[in-house]
Amino acid sequence: MNGASIPASPLPISARAPGKCIVFGEHAVVHGRPELVLAIDLTTQVIARAGEVPRLEGDADAARAHPYLAEALRRLWPEGSEPLEWTTVSRIPRAAGLGSSAAFTAAVATALLAARGGADRSILAEQSFAIERGAQGVGSPGDTSASVAGGLVAVNGGEGPPLWELHAGDQRWLVRRVRDPGWVWLVAYSGVPRSTADAVRSVGRRLAEPDGPKLLDAFEEVARQGIEAVQREERTETGRWMNENQRLLREVGVSHPRLETLLDALGPSVEGAKLTGAGAGGSIVALPKPGREVEAQRRIERAGGRPFVVRAAPQGAALVLAPP
Ligand code: PMV
Repeated sequence: MNGASIPASPLPISARAPGKCIVFGEHAVVHGRPELVLAIDLTTQVIARAGEVPRLEGDADAARAHPYLAEALRRLWPEGSEPLEWTTVSRIPRAAGLGSSAAFTAAVATALLAARGGADRSILAEQSFAIERGAQGVGSPGDTSASVAGGLVAVNGGEGPPLWELHAGDQRWLVRRVRDPGWVWLVAYSGVPRSTADAVRSVGRRLAEPDGPKLLDAFEEVARQGIEAVQREERTETGRWMNENQRLLREVGVSHPRLETLLDALGPSVEGAKLTGAGAGGSIVALPKPGREVEAQRRIERAGGRPFVVRAAPQGAALVLAPP
């Protein structure tokens, strides 16, 4: 049910994991509401080799200072194990809401679990979430689950048997696969970096106001309807719910003038569009109308954004096998 396990492998090990964009439900998912996450075909690859001291890109200080690597080693690489030297190659822009930290985390966890004898994919999902949350202090398992599973995943939504169930404190999230309709999506980075943790905390404060529960219910309804529209492969409906989701994200204060400029610039080339991820900067996701992907891309370029035309990543985190 959970897909192939991560096999055991000797060092050196290379592993790869996809980034992601959130199609519906960011922020509300932190409070247990549904979310839909698309693993995108932009990946991060890591290589781990035995070395004399832990290094990242040849730098020992960088290895110690990297919150996700340090947390992964603390959890999965017992003191006294042989030091590892890491190199990375990534096509995912950083601090852009496109899952660079989730992809890095899932790839590093894949490599470490493989070096320790292999693991089931649900263990990889659990560990990747624990590492990201440990390094970030807040958050839900949507990003790391998409990086681990590939394709489309629903958190606390969708149908059918769960891939895995994850917990933190008194929150509990069920993660299910949603069938990929094979659509082409457009994500675009605004060039404005932001902090996920700061945005999550500011939305938390907004949701603690008296109308918070009503807002959360509205987020839930939009995500449920949106997930159903994707499951029915209804593009226009999906776009409509994306626009509706953006309206709510604006209301909780995580849009940004640069994001609004990019969303406006898309005009009639898309079915719908919204910010994706934490917001307050970062990126947008749009569902282009069929045949208008290049037009949407050009519109974003003219408005000063950095567009990527993406599809669902066909595969989640995996070892990269060395050529024979
Ligand atoms: O990592 P980002 O910036 O794409 O944001 C993650 C989405 C949030 O819902 C804001 C936080 C979370 O962990 O779910």
